[in-house]
Amino acid sequence: MEERVVSEQATTEDMSLEQSLRPQTFDEYIGQDHVKENLKIFIEAAKMRKETLDHVLLYGPPGLGKTTLASIIATEMGGEMRTTSGPAIERPGDLASILTTIQPGDVLFIDEIHRLSRSIEEILYPAMEDFCLDIVIGKGEGARSIRLDLPPFTLVGATTRAGSLSAPLRDRFGVISRLEYYNREQLKQIILRTAKLLETHIQVDAAEEIASRSRGTPRIANRLLRRVRDFAQVKADGQISLPLTMEALDFMRVDRLGLDHIDHKLLMALIEKFNGGPVGLETIAATIGEEAGTIEDVYEPYLLQIGFIQRTPRGRVATSHAYEYFQMEVPKK
Ligand SMILES: Nc1ncnc2c1ncn2[C@@H]1O[C@H](COP(=O)(O)OP(=O)(O)OP(=O)(O)O)[C@@H](O)[C@H]1O
Ligand SMILES: [Mg+2]
Repeated sequence: MEERVVSEQATTEDMSLEQSLRPQTFDEYIGQDHVKENLKIFIEAAKMRKETLDHVLLYGPPGLGKTTLASIIATEMGGEMRTTSGPAIERPGDLASILTTIQPGDVLFIDEIHRLSRSIEEILYPAMEDFCLDIVIGKGEGARSIRLDLPPFTLVGATTRAGSLSAPLRDRFGVISRLEYYNREQLKQIILRTAKLLETHIQVDAAEEIASRSRGTPRIANRLLRRVRDFAQVKADGQISLPLTMEALDFMRVDRLGLDHIDHKLLMALIEKFNGGPVGLETIAATIGEEAGTIEDVYEPYLLQIGFIQRTPRGRVATSHAYEYFQMEVPKK
């Protein structure tokens, strides 16, 4: 089994390290200027009115900083962040037990909020709108509904798929922000910042090289940095230079755009087996042995962003950029 160095999904190592690398203030949070500036204003206004911040929905591909931003919002509002996720809330009681521990001004962070069940969503609506919770106790004849008042709080929801959120839920967010892929300069800043926190020496051109292979994603930038640091430790007294970085990244089979073997498999299947498409997502997934959901959430967004594939009503299509990248002729159709 090949290691997935590039996948945006968090590994266990990521999770413990991410906590320590996570920016804690807006100033430390690099990029996403538009989202940040807006949030700063809304937070300041809410504070001036001594109210809680309106509910916030953050969406965008994995690893771009949604969880980080949620915790910054909590800090800025002077509250605590309670974290849960769509799949973790199975029964109304699960939601109730979190909501009843909330203090005024806290942030309730629900990750993967598109995976909440409809019945849970319905309990969430009055909690979001009126800060109250209606729960049914007992079954059948003896069942009765009780209403609990909740302290004012801010719900921050995060999702990689805003499109999968039900309209009534989406409508209850006062702030909806989309996180964008980071540019190379921003990723370089993030890498330099992380290197400093890890007390690692890195040359600026080496940081730029990692940045350009990080698929616009801070999580990947940090992960590649750590892997290159391993190489540096074993092979070069810990100094991260450009030649060492190139060697390490090539060895890990991260190509110059940051595409890994799964991206390659996907693009080659599209080009060689399906003559460039159009071909349906499920068919591609079955051909390369990956889950359709993973392709859709993790791999496709970046390939779309760099213009290597297009989504058409009849399926996915490889663009001429993709053909050029692999030095292949675009077929005549
Ligand atoms: N703007 C930023 N500046 C500096 N570092 C960042 C920034 N955004 C994210 N990071 C780094 O990237 C890591 C991943 O970010 P985070 O966990 O917030 O992403 P996410 O969008 O919640 O991902 P997922 O969708 O997988 O939950 C963090 O640990 C943090 O160190
Ligand atoms: Mg997250």
